[in-house]
Amino acid sequence: MSNGATFLQGKFPIPDDRRGLLTQLATGLDREQLLWLSGYFAGIAASTPSGAPSVAGHVLGAPVALPQAAAPAAPLLTILSASHTGNGRKVSEKLAAAVQAAGVSARVVKAGDYQPREIAKEKLLYVVISTHGDGDPPDEARAFYEFLGTKRAPPLPELQYAVLSLGDSSYPKFCEAGRVVDERLAKLGAKRLLPRVDCDVDFEKLAKTWADDALARVREIAPKSAGAAPVAAAAPAQPVHAELTRAQPATAEVLANQRIVGRGALREVRHVELSFPGLGNLYKPGDALGIVHRNPESAIDAVLKAARLDAAAQVSLDGRTHTLHEWLRDERELTRIARPLLVAVQDRSKADLSALLDTRNPQALSKFTATAQVSDVLARYPAEWTAEALVAALRPVTGRVYSIASSPAAVGDEAHLTVAVVGSDTDRRLLAGAASAFVVGMPVDSQVNVWIERNDRFRVPADPSRDIIMIGPGTGVAPFRGFLQEREATGATGRNWLFYGGRSLYHDFLYQLEWQQALKRNSLHRVDVAFSRDQSEKIYVQHRIRQAARDLYAWLSNGAYLYVCGDASAMAPDVHAALLEVVKEQGNLDADDAQAWVSDLTTDGRYLRDVY
Ligand SMILES: Cc1cc2nc3c(=O)[nH]c(=O)nc-3n(C[C@H](O)[C@H](O)[C@H](O)COP(=O)(O)OP(=O)(O)OC[C@H]3O[C@@H](n4cnc5c(N)ncnc54)[C@H](O)[C@@H]3O)c2cc1C
Ligand SMILES: Cc1cc2nc3c(=O)[nH]c(=O)nc-3n(C[C@H](O)[C@H](O)[C@H](O)COP(=O)(O)O)c2cc1C
Repeated sequence: MSNGATFLQGKFPIPDDRRGLLTQLATGLDREQLLWLSGYFAGIAASTPSGAPSVAGHVLGAPVALPQAAAPAAPLLTILSASHTGNGRKVSEKLAAAVQAAGVSARVVKAGDYQPREIAKEKLLYVVISTHGDGDPPDEARAFYEFLGTKRAPPLPELQYAVLSLGDSSYPKFCEAGRVVDERLAKLGAKRLLPRVDCDVDFEKLAKTWADDALARVREIAPKSAGAAPVAAAAPAQPVHAELTRAQPATAEVLANQRIVGRGALREVRHVELSFPGLGNLYKPGDALGIVHRNPESAIDAVLKAARLDAAAQVSLDGRTHTLHEWLRDERELTRIARPLLVAVQDRSKADLSALLDTRNPQALSKFTATAQVSDVLARYPAEWTAEALVAALRPVTGRVYSIASSPAAVGDEAHLTVAVVGSDTDRRLLAGAASAFVVGMPVDSQVNVWIERNDRFRVPADPSRDIIMIGPGTGVAPFRGFLQEREATGATGRNWLFYGGRSLYHDFLYQLEWQQALKRNSLHRVDVAFSRDQSEKIYVQHRIRQAARDLYAWLSNGAYLYVCGDASAMAPDVHAALLEVVKEQGNLDADDAQAWVSDLTTDGRYLRDVY
């Protein structure tokens, strides 16, 4: 929106002597503040008779009560949206709009804004929840998720509910968070209105069917209870993503792409700089940038060979026609194996893949996919394929995103990334990653299509005087480079403490020189490092956290924010366990109280994780 000064120009019914005040009031406010103000004035207008002057705040110096809007009737339906990358949020908002259009009151609440105890008052609850990390709920839903599993969770015999679960079947713990919430609610005595639906990455169709059923159930229930409640005004939908998406990306120029680790590093890591005019207005530190990659030719060739198909075959699907080569290069996953592919392979080859497909033993699938890609599956279980059948069996490509390692306040229209090259490991046989291999092959001055994935929960504190503690081993350090640039450029007065971990100080201390210079400038106040291979015993960041227990607890007790970024499967749980120990020991608390202390930290928005 334009600033206050320009939008107030022109002819309108405010006396001249008030215009300056209005301009002063509106200038510099953000969108939420302006919306609040518009609601505030609307409230005063509602209680002011036409033609009479308003009474707002004070009369002749004496305080008066501001006009209060009548308390709205509680909406019949609460849709709890527990989302990290916004897919579930969109489903929730669409469902709420459909319910409201049917004349039934509904609200969408983000899990991070929901007090878990509120659940005792709900009558009808739909939960739309995705799974992240290693089978975890989205961060915003952690307090709710944990609460449901504790003794503090109330019995819920009056509650009717349904769960839509979003996930990705290439992860061993497919849709775990949705399953757990569904089961916990049932265990608390709530009545399941609909069977839970578990959606894979192409969630739209299944989610729509679930939402249609969910709406039908609301229609049945509404007249019998609070269905006559007025239609609640839909909250203005906040755009979840910036304008750019994977389907509608922008073209960026590659300014730099260089290896930033020594030869003895665990894996190759690249520092990448991208730019296009206006990029700096589209992201904030904490956001990630997606790169539209193409699958490696080697992976495409291997799939064509294993399926014995011709690259030039024309394939039409969902109204689009490309050659098989183009489908495999741009549109389909060739490196991450998902269950639907295994089902299709089983059907065609008549091989028995039931052990891999057994959802009660997800480890079998994860062990298999650690050393197999699509071509391996096709080669191991030979079958007759047509080009159409193969394209239909492979799932649509999923976007890869990278934490942005810069701040526009420091680098303007550039975005920097820190990309580990999957498959470059020196001591493990890991398969080449599709996107990270593509990144390695992006020469300086070439162009690449990108989009921004916003993460409004992972931000530097709004209050610049707060201290921050950043735990980011390996590429997990990327967003903290952006945080530090931002805090320095904006003159934040709070202290900055970094925990970094890698294999060896000599080979893979990412951005070492920058941290040292920041320490000298006094814009970084403390760095604790853990290099696992520099001594006989393995030392990781969680060990350093325990060693720094006293200071860490003092910083947190003093209002510091704690951020964790990087590996979801081992690092984040280990760091969490170390944090619980620190709080227990330093706060003299028992395990339950330490857990509650850390949960409060999360609820306050001061324990923030971005793990992958
Ligand atoms: C919010 C977010 C931020 C991220 N930020 C960064 C970042 O700053 N830097 C960065 O390098 N990455 C980051 N990632 C990870 C990145 O998006 C990709 O997942 C990663 O680059 C692997 O993609 P790929 O296409 O190269 O490999 P894929 O083609 O997806 O994987 C190839 C094979 O390797 C295996 N594999 C994939 N990843 C790993 C792994 N990490 N460890 C072991 N095996 C693996 C898979 O099982 C597969 O068989 C982030 C992810 C998210 C969600
Ligand atoms: C870092 C990361 C980890 C994920 N881990 C899992 C997982 O363990 N299990 C699963 O089923 N899906 C997993 N997913 C897939 C997401 O649940 C899926 O993309 C979903 O559509 C996201 O919905 P949201 O945008 O509402 O958060 C993961 C996605 C990301 C980016």
